[in-house]
Amino acid sequence: MTAPNIETIVSLSKRRGFVYPASDIYGGLGSSWDYGPLGVELANNIKQSWWRWAVYERDDIEGVDSSIIQNRLVWKYSGHEDTFSDPLVDCRDCKTRLREDKLERDAAAKFVCSNCGSTNLTESRAFNLMFRTTVGAASADDDPSALAYLRPETAQGIFVNFKNVLDTSRRKLPFGIAQIGKAFRNEVTPGNFIFRTREFEQMEIEYFCRPEDAPRIHQEWIDAYDAWLGSLGISSDNIVHYEQTPAELAHYSDRTVDFLYRFFPEREDEDKQFDELLGIANRTDYDLRVHSKKPENADGKRINPDTTEDLSFFDPQTNERFYPYCIEPSIGVNRTLLAVMMDAYTEKANDKGEVRVILKLKPEMAPIKVAVLPLAKNNDEIVTLAKRLKHDLQPSMRAVYDDTGGIGKLYARQDEIGTPFCVTVDHESLADNAVTVRDRDTWEQERVGLDALKEHLLERLKQ
Ligand code: GAP
Repeated sequence: MTAPNIETIVSLSKRRGFVYPASDIYGGLGSSWDYGPLGVELANNIKQSWWRWAVYERDDIEGVDSSIIQNRLVWKYSGHEDTFSDPLVDCRDCKTRLREDKLERDAAAKFVCSNCGSTNLTESRAFNLMFRTTVGAASADDDPSALAYLRPETAQGIFVNFKNVLDTSRRKLPFGIAQIGKAFRNEVTPGNFIFRTREFEQMEIEYFCRPEDAPRIHQEWIDAYDAWLGSLGISSDNIVHYEQTPAELAHYSDRTVDFLYRFFPEREDEDKQFDELLGIANRTDYDLRVHSKKPENADGKRINPDTTEDLSFFDPQTNERFYPYCIEPSIGVNRTLLAVMMDAYTEKANDKGEVRVILKLKPEMAPIKVAVLPLAKNNDEIVTLAKRLKHDLQPSMRAVYDDTGGIGKLYARQDEIGTPFCVTVDHESLADNAVTVRDRDTWEQERVGLDALKEHLLERLKQ
């Protein structure tokens, strides 16, 4: 089972503290969201899993953390100043602002407003999605020399550091550079909770290789991502691969395969249930070339007269100098978090027929690994033992102590936030030095001695 729709996750998130509307007490700010105590843990678990998988478990990837605000020239030469835009139209009847490329057409092939059905739309105009800012205390708001952008992708911070990483890590091809960080886009139509927002986080790899190896390496990354998403608990039934058409390709891409997730299971038409979770592009040598000082255009002029560096690669074995191709898997943290929560969502009836929500997260993803609960919160000895256990477990796993309700309520709360195990301290514990370990998914309980508790939990958390 998965969540029936995104709304179910929105209300669970707000109720339990995964994600809240941003600036809520001032009426919010369109499609901005804040991550609460559980959301930040889940997002960190996703990022740690990705970094471990992409950087530590391989021998060919280094990490970087580049600035959000770069020299404006980065975005000039990357092509974002000219082409990173959406076609914008306004509906003259209902005044809604729309993305033309997302609109349906009527029988006469005219675009139809998705809000009111009118075809009375303005001409489309290109709207650049980069957020502008100015750098420096004295700069006026309209001073072009102070203009800068918040990065719309983390990728460019990798390309402009290509030579730094190459020289300092003494890498040979193929090798990759990984980065996790915020990106910003002034989206025309944000929405669907954290699916499309103006501020989001990306996990990107730029994997550099010889041009002739790029098609094979592209496919290897597609297979690798299938495996990693599976390790997060995302079912392959909810993923489809989509080959972008030439018209859909970004200005830098030769081939892009998107992984679409079933974010909208409530939609009747199955094709419309899926939307992008990640993309894996063959960026060719586009980016390294445009940031390099040597390449010239047909008239013999340097295509980039501003850069001081040449980002080509010299292969000492073949004595060749060339611009490496780049395969780029790019995935959003926020969309991954949404997919992980949707896939983990299940409902189960208890003995009384009451429906309970269980978030069947993989233990690695669970924000809290174990909750220690006292059966009698007025019994000092039980409370003291439960608090001690929580502190003993805490260095090895994220543990919480909770005595804010009856045991049934406490179990239900932990099930709903995906805590794999509850440890209950009862009157017997004081005599037999043992506690009850309750499993989130089966609700089965097992008596475990205090001496063996930590190892018992660590072993089961590996599953
Ligand atoms: N460097 C390539 C690049 O940025 P992209 O397809 O535009 O490619 C990559 O973005 C991923 O970033 C998407 O697959 C998605 O997961 C995430 N993403 C993009 N725009 C987003 C937005 N407005 N809100 C949330 N996530 C977004």
